Amino acid sequence: MNLILQDMDFRELEYSYGPTVAQAVLNTLTLFNQRFKFLGIGRNRAVYTTSSGKYVMKVPVTSEGFTDNQRESRIYKSYPNSIYARAHLHHILPVGIPVLFMEHIQPTIKTLNELPSWVMSIDGAQVGLDQNGNLKAYDYGDQ
Ligand SMILES: Nc1ncnc2c1ncn2[C@@H]1O[C@H](COP(=O)(O)OP(=O)(O)O)[C@@H](O)[C@H]1O
Ligand SMILES: [Mg+2]
Repeated sequence: MNLILQDMDFRELEYSYGPTVAQAVLNTLTLFNQRFKFLGIGRNRAVYTTSSGKYVMKVPVTSEGFTDNQRESRIYKSYPNSIYARAHLHHILPVGIPVLFMEHIQPTIKTLNELPSWVMSIDGAQVGLDQNGNLKAYDYGDQ
């Protein structure tokens, strides 16, 4: 699976942050498409895995993607080793695009009544298992 960059629309990003930032995001996606395995895309971020498979990298594709990345790294710092997947923010130069590095989570196929009640507080119940089999949220920028 690859991300088809031609089909993407960066106008919202350009409107919010200007053409230099929009171009830097496009450059980052082009580079990541060449280097890493594309995993999936949500409303605000395109996600790649590192070659070890232990981490994912979330590249923001909308202005909300920028704030989600910043919020997730802040939430993780405030509540490490809890229900939130381990996450660290890195700023990709030259422009400083905030790309979130997160531990890889295997999304769960369990139904809500088989999962603990905190899962209901996570948007879209986006949870799964970490490498040690612990249940964690992987999309929690709007917490
Ligand atoms: N930590 C993770 N481990 C494995 N897959 C992930 C992880 N985070 C995101 N993904 C995959 O990438 C997709 C988009 O990421 P997500 O965080 O949901 O972005 P958005 O905020 O745009 O919805 C998810 O639906 C999921 O398939
Ligand atoms: Mg999502």
